[in-house]
Amino acid sequence: MNNGSEARSDLDASDFGLGGFMSSVGKKVVSVLVVDGDHRFLDSIRSAPVFHQPGWVVRIAPSADAAESAVKEARADVFVVGGSLPDSDAVSLLKKLKELSPNSLRFLLYSDAEKDVLSKTQGLTHRKIQKPATAGELSLAIRQVLVTHLRIRRPEVASIVRDTKQLHVNTQPMQELLRTAEDPECELEDLARIVSQHPTAVATILQVVNTAFYGTLGDVDTIEEALQILGMDFVRNLAITELAKKQLRLSPGLHELANAILQHSIETSQYGLRMKSMVKNVRLIQQLSSIALLHDLGKLVLLASKGNDYADLMGQSVDSNTPCWMLERENYGCDHAAVGGFLFAMWGLPEVIVRSVTWHHQPEKVAEDGFCSTSLLHFANYAAHCNSGVSCYCGDRLNEELAERLGLSPEFAYEFE
Ligand SMILES: [Fe+2]
Ligand SMILES: [Fe+2]
Repeated sequence: MNNGSEARSDLDASDFGLGGFMSSVGKKVVSVLVVDGDHRFLDSIRSAPVFHQPGWVVRIAPSADAAESAVKEARADVFVVGGSLPDSDAVSLLKKLKELSPNSLRFLLYSDAEKDVLSKTQGLTHRKIQKPATAGELSLAIRQVLVTHLRIRRPEVASIVRDTKQLHVNTQPMQELLRTAEDPECELEDLARIVSQHPTAVATILQVVNTAFYGTLGDVDTIEEALQILGMDFVRNLAITELAKKQLRLSPGLHELANAILQHSIETSQYGLRMKSMVKNVRLIQQLSSIALLHDLGKLVLLASKGNDYADLMGQSVDSNTPCWMLERENYGCDHAAVGGFLFAMWGLPEVIVRSVTWHHQPEKVAEDGFCSTSLLHFANYAAHCNSGVSCYCGDRLNEELAERLGLSPEFAYEFE
């Protein structure tokens, strides 16, 4: 199993400084540098209309040397680095660019033959994109990561997560669990061994897998079996929520709320799976079911950080029938979605998790033409609130416009069998 601790250990809260990146993006011009050895690809980027729109400055560099000169000439907010460079390997260049510009957003472009670099770039990149990628796909990816980081790198969000020291990545054993998330070489046995060290996580996983929903007969009694049935991402994310709850050491009065939030997360995951009757992409549905487990973890962080004040806010959201995330924005200057997104970015979890969680109440900000993990998470969360309901806070309204655009009936949440 790959040990990514070296790259990841420096991805802590201080890495999310609000320095150069925010001030430069605040000027509303995003400077992108695309580095690749493939001249035809560079030409396609140079001539793409999408990169000639106001607000973008896109430069290209055919080598690592040219990239370094370009950075010295003028700042870049976003780096896109191709896997095949004539004078350097992509990993070394990404390290150099991170040193030169720590707050930059960094993308790796890789081909099938270059897959071995993936495990070496943990902590160095914000998103990895498989070739061939069109200029349109690249620009969408950059916009998605950019708006997400602008949302989560806000002082209000950063201070809430920084204050919650119990969740910082250096706390063992969370780090060992997180390390498996982006490790393509992690085997089922590795994850089983890591999860097995945490009795509360094991108990919850076995409890979940033995419910009728997953079609088992209630006789699953090992983590290995649970992993076969639920999948590695699902089991890992469930273990993360349990560990986070344990590490936060909430006061006894808040336990009931925390349990209700985690129960709702499992229900959201199950509604995500039920959506396979409406969405034919099986991989996307599976991804949704595991991401859903994490979607409201920011609420637990707010409970730890704000205590009874947040519990009262939840009550107010019920009384005023206002979605809780809107009241969080009014009162704390940010919502649980951004808090969760920041935490997961700090932990080095995959970008798709950071993005979907950050925008699950405003999926239109990053939504794609078809169903994507963010829009689906929004729908699954809404369906869970409509059907199972959490009584301690007011959930969310449906983005009907988005639902209609994607061909989903506004009544879809009531149409499950
Ligand atoms: Fe939420
Ligand atoms: Fe939720």
